[in-house]
Amino acid sequence: MKPAKSASTRVLIASIAAVPALAALLFAQTPRFHNAPASAAAMTNPYTGQQNAEAGRTVFVQKCAACHGQNAQGTGIIPALTKGPVQAAKPGEIFWYITRGDLMNGMPSWKALPEKERWQVVTYLKNLKNTQGALEGAPASSGADASGALNAPPPKPPFTDFRFEKPGTTRKITVADLPAPFATASAGNGPRLVPRPANVWPQAPEGFKVQLYAADLENPRLIRTAPNGDFFVAEAGPGRILIFRGITPDGKPKLTSTFATGLNQPFGIAFYPLGPNPQWVYVGNTNAVVRFPYENGDLKARGPAQHIADLPSNGRGHITRDIRFSPDGKTMFASVGSGSNVDDPDTHPAEKDRADILAFNPDGSGMHIYAYGIRNPVGLAINPTTGELWCSVNERDALGDNLVPDYITHVQPGGFYGWPWWYIGGHQDPRHPGTHPELKNKVITPDVLLQPHNASLEMTFYTGKQFPAEYDGDIFASEHGSWNKAIRAGYEVIRVPLHQTGHATGEYEDFVTGFVLPDGNVWGRPVGVTVAPDGSLLVTDDGSNSIWRVAYTGK
Ligand code: HEC
Repeated sequence: MKPAKSASTRVLIASIAAVPALAALLFAQTPRFHNAPASAAAMTNPYTGQQNAEAGRTVFVQKCAACHGQNAQGTGIIPALTKGPVQAAKPGEIFWYITRGDLMNGMPSWKALPEKERWQVVTYLKNLKNTQGALEGAPASSGADASGALNAPPPKPPFTDFRFEKPGTTRKITVADLPAPFATASAGNGPRLVPRPANVWPQAPEGFKVQLYAADLENPRLIRTAPNGDFFVAEAGPGRILIFRGITPDGKPKLTSTFATGLNQPFGIAFYPLGPNPQWVYVGNTNAVVRFPYENGDLKARGPAQHIADLPSNGRGHITRDIRFSPDGKTMFASVGSGSNVDDPDTHPAEKDRADILAFNPDGSGMHIYAYGIRNPVGLAINPTTGELWCSVNERDALGDNLVPDYITHVQPGGFYGWPWWYIGGHQDPRHPGTHPELKNKVITPDVLLQPHNASLEMTFYTGKQFPAEYDGDIFASEHGSWNKAIRAGYEVIRVPLHQTGHATGEYEDFVTGFVLPDGNVWGRPVGVTVAPDGSLLVTDDGSNSIWRVAYTGK
């Protein structure tokens, strides 16, 4: 199924294993922090203590928070600095790493920052250990998107940015539109989250109305409609699955309940067997698929979680794992994103079985790779017209504003989508020159190219009866929004029109927009999208921690 990738990884591992002494040497050593040399570890920090930590915090807010987050909590591929390898590393190793950066993976070099400030930021980072909300109340970052960028000339179509996203606008990106790698610098422009101003509301096309269905959630991510019409919502941070039931005449839930707790960054939710009477709710934790016994109408899991299958995860990289079943009920699909931006799996064993869609029997046995080279497949959905598996994908970073497009595509069994050596058809990734020439002609061009760095998350097919007939069978997807683009894009819900054919033309449309304020600050970030039994759409938003309802009223 996956000839080049798994074969070469296997050869590498086999040849290491064949030399026991070498294997012991390689695997026994505590890994160095980003391969920092011993001389780096030996350096001592001349600027320690509370005052230097305070000064380091100022540097962090100005230079680092735009990517690593105001609370150093990280987002997507950008690691948290409050925990993990940074907290285990020696100060000198962090200093060395910050100085050098890791351009290939989107971390700038801070060589130009005075040495003293680099050490101060190290002191600050080391003081973060185990703190949560380290920068609570800190001033908004003066990040890379200074207001100058907002006055920049309009983007050249088909590329766009938040200033020009407008419900109903059709866009189409083709392979011929792709710029060369590094045509623009790799941006560090994470969202600055602000509360939603009272007079601001999400915008939908004419005839649609947006209501606030539920507020005050905690990190709501994927939302999925159960066969009985209940809405299951994964709250990833707290590790919970919630249930919302019904829609009142003013667009609110009739009741809410906590279905299950104690999960590990849950995302995917699937009901099994397919059809009106499921017996299990499957949940995609970041490191495993588990399932709960379930009958229609249950508001609490009727038993503890059963472990179904481990999923690759080492605490690094992409964390979301969606789950879907094939229409015949025989295959369980799980989406597993890469552990890095573009690490080569041939030389990075941690990438084994990642950047793939994995397939299992519903009992968790029989794991195999269904499709590969998909950097971060997030949302999975079954096309009701064709029965095919589709997915929504976050492509790679650090090649410039308009590379590489995110995408939505049907997934070919055994298909190779390029990562990390190739992208969007036969374009070699400049960070892997000359590698795997034999795969060049195997790289599948995805069906719908989206704005690069959009962060395309959950997707669903419209099976409702409320929207006008032209929406039948179309795709809706949530675009969480960019960090690696000088002027933000995404932060919207899009529609992919299929024109009742079950196939995409490459076009997509802005559908719900308005989550970014004119000054570039962000108040909302769509993550999940599902079709309600009444035909309206529900959209989760982990920026404002709420769920929006989009209904067609014709007015
Ligand atoms: C343009 C976005 C961006 C900015 C700005 C940025 N970083 Fe990073 N940083 C990243 C990315 C992306 C990675 C992950 C690289 C990888 O995959 O190995 C990273 C990794 C790191 C790591 C390693 C974390 C780990 O778990 O291994 C440290 C430490 C770090 N950054 C510190 C900083 C500091 C300090 C600043 C400010 C002086 C900063 N970064 C600014 C994007 C950024």
